[in-house]
Amino acid sequence: VRSVEVAGNLFWVGVKDPDLRVFDINVKTDYGTTYNSYLIMGEKKALVDAVKFGFQDDFLSKIEEHTAVEEIDYLIVNHTEPDHSGCIPLLLKKNPKLKLFCSKPALPFLKNVLNDASVQIEGVKTGDRLDLGGLTLEFQSAPFLHWPDTMFTYLVEEKVLFPCDGYASHFSPHDGMFYRPGDQVVDHAAWYYYDCIMRPYAPHCRKATEEALQKEISVCAPSHGPINNSEPKRFMQKYLEWTEVKKLSDKKLIVVAYASSYGNTQRLAEEIAATMQKAEVDVRLFDVAATPESEKRDLLEAADGLVFGAPTFVNDIVKPMWETLLLLPTVSTSGKRAATFGSYGWSGQAPGMMQSFLQSIKIKVYEPLLKARLVPSEEDLQEAATFARGFLEFLQEN
Ligand code: FEO
Repeated sequence: VRSVEVAGNLFWVGVKDPDLRVFDINVKTDYGTTYNSYLIMGEKKALVDAVKFGFQDDFLSKIEEHTAVEEIDYLIVNHTEPDHSGCIPLLLKKNPKLKLFCSKPALPFLKNVLNDASVQIEGVKTGDRLDLGGLTLEFQSAPFLHWPDTMFTYLVEEKVLFPCDGYASHFSPHDGMFYRPGDQVVDHAAWYYYDCIMRPYAPHCRKATEEALQKEISVCAPSHGPINNSEPKRFMQKYLEWTEVKKLSDKKLIVVAYASSYGNTQRLAEEIAATMQKAEVDVRLFDVAATPESEKRDLLEAADGLVFGAPTFVNDIVKPMWETLLLLPTVSTSGKRAATFGSYGWSGQAPGMMQSFLQSIKIKVYEPLLKARLVPSEEDLQEAATFARGFLEFLQEN
């Protein structure tokens, strides 16, 4: 496979990894992936992003179709994750004069990736430009797509956007590198990529996309998957659709999610939900073991308040509740508030463990938590109602 001309003086010099089946430990890649790097041949020569370590021979040979690595002036580092930064040390070994540009938040990341104080690195921000002589690069900060370090780069004269992981897909084309209109497999791969990698950062994705869409764009050249020169704004516009907050209710939405073996935690959950329903809120009560994962993710994402109830089994939270809690880092949770409760026999750690987990992922949790031993008594149910009213007040606090 050789390099691919993307626009005048701009070449794809990335690599294909068609046999990859899992990316970053837990993202399935049924169609492999690509690590895209772009060579811009102005009077000054620049690379936009590097590739994963292990693919250096293919990468260097594509660059050398156009120039010696020693002749490259600049490397733009849109993001420092190793699938894009893995080959930077090799580039620097061949060309120690190479000057790196990255976002300001990426500076400490890059220093820890390279561990070499002699490397020239400059931090840039939105609106900063780099003159390549006849060609110009303009930068846009795009934090949390999906790391704090991310930025987009724009080749002004050719109207090419390099959004790194944004609008990307894990898809390795059999031939060529361009998106084919109507390719439903790539459409799905782009959605899956968003859903697995970007969805927790939906508000950040939306902000960066709205900003980038103000530019004229002829080519969208992401860091994974096909380059889109036929419908360049296709996946940018899709991101606006995908990041739209799906309101499931006009009122504040509270989910009361419980696991229950013998109905005791369920009884507490029902009392909490019934108490809340008397207020001006919308309450969705569900059994985590009987609700499909996609439905749970949508509910967790849409909710303002999250109330989790679980019994304690062998000093632990039961598995269906763990699986539900572990969905939280896969969606956007900013601004949500939570509370925990559960029935127990003798040790009763589950509500406290859930509370610690929620706090560890930066969700504010109502205290005190609620515990009731074995079958909830009338007194326990009154306590559950007080707990529910307390949580409603907590939800109103700024
Ligand atoms: Fe493709 Fe976040 O690296």
